[in-house]
Amino acid sequence: MQATAIDINPYTLMTDEECEARIDVARRTLGERLVILGHHYQRDEVFRHADYSGDSLKLSREAANSKAEYIVFCGVHFMAEVADILSRPEQVAILPDLAAGCSMADMANLANVQRAWRELGQVLDPDQSVTPVTYINSAADLKAFCGEHGGIVCTSTNARQVLEWSFSRREKVLFFPDQHLGRNTGYTMGIPLDEMVVWDYEQPMGGLSEEQIRKARIILWKGFCSVHQMFRPEHIDRFKEKYPDAKVISHPEASFEVCRKSDYVGSTEYIIKTIRASAPGTRWLVGTELNLVNRLHEECKAEGKSVHFMSPTVCMCSTMFRIDPQHLLWTLENLIDGRVVNQVKVPEREAELARLALDRMLEVSP
Ligand code: 13P
Ligand code: SF4
Repeated sequence: MQATAIDINPYTLMTDEECEARIDVARRTLGERLVILGHHYQRDEVFRHADYSGDSLKLSREAANSKAEYIVFCGVHFMAEVADILSRPEQVAILPDLAAGCSMADMANLANVQRAWRELGQVLDPDQSVTPVTYINSAADLKAFCGEHGGIVCTSTNARQVLEWSFSRREKVLFFPDQHLGRNTGYTMGIPLDEMVVWDYEQPMGGLSEEQIRKARIILWKGFCSVHQMFRPEHIDRFKEKYPDAKVISHPEASFEVCRKSDYVGSTEYIIKTIRASAPGTRWLVGTELNLVNRLHEECKAEGKSVHFMSPTVCMCSTMFRIDPQHLLWTLENLIDGRVVNQVKVPEREAELARLALDRMLEVSP
């Protein structure tokens, strides 16, 4: 057995086709010791190797239920962290390329959130009146912050149930890092827009007055997903002019205006299920990442359904795209040789607190 990991460099020179056959062999060799989880935004050449695919909620459940020794996550960093937190201590979570982060998750960090909590403390007692809610697209230390302060995690599937849980405990919510998921969910629950204020983490007191903070039901972090901001209400208007009977479906990370103009709003898994269940011949405009939309388009065309991408410009999640067959193969062949590369391990105390917030979420999830 070699002491050091096989170098990634020779793998980067291999074609996708060469990798594909070797990934198949590696998966057979590792057998039940391995499970590969693939998020819906993964490119086809990687996605086809996933044992389970899904949205963030479904994949966290798969990670929690898996018996495999190695959980290889084809997704982004926070997903592999969740897999590590929810799996047993002897299981190993792996992210094939550690540079696969999430730019939205990076818009909130522990120092900024702790500062916000302290500053809110100048106006009210946050531990009595504010539930901190972090979108699963966030680092483990923010999930731990929520665990410690009576808060909870949410995904795009369960945001409503999580907000209901939060409001049943405390009168306000601090929602980070995605303002759009928070606003879109709050609005559908009947919270007026002027009771949802944006906390600008680069400004003292979030750029808000005491009165705005006192009046707010939801304090929305000023974070966003750049991929989902590419979708515009005009894209929907133009499409509807051409195809008045078409249906529009969007991810809740899209803007308020886009979600208002959409017929359906939901997670990646919800989008896929809704279009699959629609009648043959239906036409869809979809506001989410391109790899998912392209795959649905291919799958559904046999039934005469047409699935269109909402933006006229190509917009993929560049960090999801970092997971390629070359990194996946490199990871698996190292495992076969008895070496773990790119393990994602959350420190125990942090994991314990983050697990509290994740378990609360799993309990209230549909
Ligand atoms: P889902 O949980 O809906 O798959 O969303 C994850 C994500 O990162 C969307 O940008
Ligand atoms: Fe993060 Fe946006 Fe990529 Fe989702 S699509 S992983 S929110 S950057």
